[in-house]
Amino acid sequence: MSLLNKRDKFATNLGVLAATLGSAVGLGNIWKFPYFTGQYGGAAFIIIYLICVVLAGVPVMVSEFIVGRRANSNPVGAFKKLAPGTAWYAIGYSGIAASFLIMLFYTSVAGWVYSYIFRALSGTFINASPEMTIGVFGKLITSNYEPIIWQIIVLIVVSSIIIAGVQKGIERMTKTLMPLLFVLLLLCDIRALTLPGAQMGVEFLFKPDFTKITREVIIIALGLAFFKLSVGMGTMVTYGSYFDKNQNLPGTAVKVALSDILVSMMAGLAIFPAVFAFGFEPDAGPGLLFITIPMVFSKMPLGNILLTIFFLLTAIAATTAMMSLLEVPVAYLVEEKGYSRTKATLTSAATIAILGSTASLSANAGSLLGSIKIFGKTFFDLYDYISSNILMPVGGLFTVIFIVWVLGKANLAAELSNDGQLNNKGVINLFYLIVKYMTPLLIIIIFLNSIGVLKF
Ligand code: PHE
Repeated sequence: MSLLNKRDKFATNLGVLAATLGSAVGLGNIWKFPYFTGQYGGAAFIIIYLICVVLAGVPVMVSEFIVGRRANSNPVGAFKKLAPGTAWYAIGYSGIAASFLIMLFYTSVAGWVYSYIFRALSGTFINASPEMTIGVFGKLITSNYEPIIWQIIVLIVVSSIIIAGVQKGIERMTKTLMPLLFVLLLLCDIRALTLPGAQMGVEFLFKPDFTKITREVIIIALGLAFFKLSVGMGTMVTYGSYFDKNQNLPGTAVKVALSDILVSMMAGLAIFPAVFAFGFEPDAGPGLLFITIPMVFSKMPLGNILLTIFFLLTAIAATTAMMSLLEVPVAYLVEEKGYSRTKATLTSAATIAILGSTASLSANAGSLLGSIKIFGKTFFDLYDYISSNILMPVGGLFTVIFIVWVLGKANLAAELSNDGQLNNKGVINLFYLIVKYMTPLLIIIIFLNSIGVLKF
């Protein structure tokens, strides 16, 4: 019993929200959502994405909260406790594997972001020509040591927050950083939207174009909902285990999903109006973040300050997301293997640093590691592909199957209503209907598509 009492927890409702939103909001909002939206039909894509969030993202999040809070344990321990003597705990191991894989490339990109804060601050991009801006990024990713050093710095920052604990580390940091992120993003929005010619960017982002909604786009929207809400890999089981018994689980998930969408839209509104106002072409992924944005912002009055702010807020978003990624193996090592929190964090971080250098060094196509292709993908892309397109959908699928068929409706109702304290029968019935039928169907479609069995 004393072990249970010793478990660290989030202390306040605001802390729960800040930490969970901190996990959801990340690089996904800043380089995936805006680009996909602009590219795949604006408001038309947003509508499909919202449907995916409602039918897959939020239900899986609530399911993970249920598993975590009910078992009061890390993902492996949670399934062992709730279904002793079965193999359901494999979901937990799959989550740990996914969190490592995501961390390998995520820390690499976060390292570039950190380095760009200092580059912007020191005036690298003031009056820089497009060639120079392209050169800066090229030089960074072709260096054999600089990206690795930044990646290690990122891991040191995230580790020191994780070592401080759930309440004193994660909760305290996210409570301060999430509002700051919001204010900084708002500043960027105001600047971008008041530029002459901003209108075209707003149109690029929102103008509904239903002709672009193909079956493939629906799959992309589904995949994005998974990655965006950090579901299907144990993060929300782990965070859910730090919630107290009065926390409204469906309410929290809905608030997080809505705020996450708001941040995604705000990111799009900070980026595209400025891109179009200065006559640039929107680019995807790393190019948009590390080349187009510095080019665009350096052309604005006070652009250098804004650029620094932009990379600072991106770093905040990435850092709070990484805290939740690292917490998954740490909680496992502490509870299942008896490690101290410090030892668990340092072991995980060191593993990520060593393996993560393969992601950092393969980002440059001309390098030795960059030229190695497995299934036609570099290490960097492979880590992204296996985690987002295989482990997360499968993890999410088995989690909803678990809560419907193993936990059962009565237990779900007890968790969702906090043992009858909340009067939410309608929510419970709707949730049950969705997780029993709709979520599994959607996830199976994503999965079959990603392994190429179904080709849309
Ligand atoms: N949701 C984060 C983002 O959008 C990524 C993430 C995935 C974080 C899985 C934790 C777990 O960037």
